[in-house]
This record gives sequence, C-alpha cells and structure tokens, in this order.
Amino acid sequence: MQNKYLMLVSKDRPMPKDYVPVLDDVYGKSLEKTAAFMLKEMFEAAKADGIELKLLSAYRTPEYQKEVFDRSVNQRIAEGQSYEQAVAETSINVAQPYESEHNLGLAADIVTPQDYDVYVDFENTGEFAWLSENAADFGFILRYPKGKECITGYTYEPWHYRYVGPYDARRIYNSDLTLEEYLGAY
Ligand code: DAL
Ligand code: ZN
Repeated sequence: MQNKYLMLVSKDRPMPKDYVPVLDDVYGKSLEKTAAFMLKEMFEAAKADGIELKLLSAYRTPEYQKEVFDRSVNQRIAEGQSYEQAVAETSINVAQPYESEHNLGLAADIVTPQDYDVYVDFENTGEFAWLSENAADFGFILRYPKGKECITGYTYEPWHYRYVGPYDARRIYNSDLTLEEYLGAY
C-alpha cells in the first residue's frame, strides 16, 4: 500500500478484513499512531487559542461498529419502522463494519466540551470555526461536507474529521474536493 493515510474506505469500498492499524492512546481513546500524535498537537494548539475540543469517538473495532449500527437499527424498529426502513435510515449516517474510517483509526468525531453526542448544530460553534480554519494544518479534513452527500454517501457531519496528513489535507481543503474526488475515485 502506498500511503495508508489516503486509504479510501466507504460504502462500496470496504477495508481489508485483516487490516489492523497500529494504535496509540489519545484522550482515553485510540487512534492510529501518527493521527493520535497530530490530534493531540491540534487540541493543544486550539487550547492555546482559548478553544477546548473534545474527542467523542475515535478508533472503533469492526465489531463495535456493528454494535453501533445494530443499536440504531433496533431503536428505529422499536419506534415503529420496518427492518428495511431502519437499515436504510441508519445507513445515512452510520457505516457498516469494515466500511468506516473509524475502523481504520483515522477518524475522529470532535465536539464541544458540553456535548455527549454529535449534533449538526456543532457547525455554529467557535470550536467548529477553529477547526475549519486550522484542522488542515494538522492533517485533518472535514470528511462529509454539506452538499457532497451523493459523492460521500453520508449526510453532512461537521464533527467527523479524517486524518490524511498535512500535505494532502491542505490540498484537499484548498480545492474544496471530497476525498473521493481528490483521489479520482468518483
Ligand atoms: N458516521 C460515519 C459515516 C461512520 O460511521 O464511520
Ligand atoms: Zn465519525
């Protein structure tokens, strides 16, 4: 594999089943080693600017990813949806196991210190504004931007940042492309 930080994992591109990232601890969770180091650098730089960031979700095993997916499906069924409808609606914002960047250890869900879940309203916070301006310098991109749903396969997620490394993050940020478009995979 040429550059693991540019690995494209999505609904129609599952990761290899035997892929296990080399992880490091970060804020009580784990991320791929370099991503963990850079996330820490980013959170410290934010803090120096008076912005407190919180890491809500980082590396997830494929088994845990399945739990997250199934929990959402079961909750929707309990609310009266059919199985098919529950799976379809869950798939709008939760990936199946082996199809999530969280399984690569390269995705971080970042929220404000007050949040215990993810909200689209995060886009109206100072924390989001800081990330929009600075995340690329630390190698992170906003992976599921607004208006690109039909390319990424997911609704807008202002909290989901993907580590690709500073060089490519800066180029992706400047070009306004999704990772799919940047890699010529769309
Ligand atoms: N929410 C993103 C798509 C994931 O589950 O990886
Ligand atoms: Zn995420």
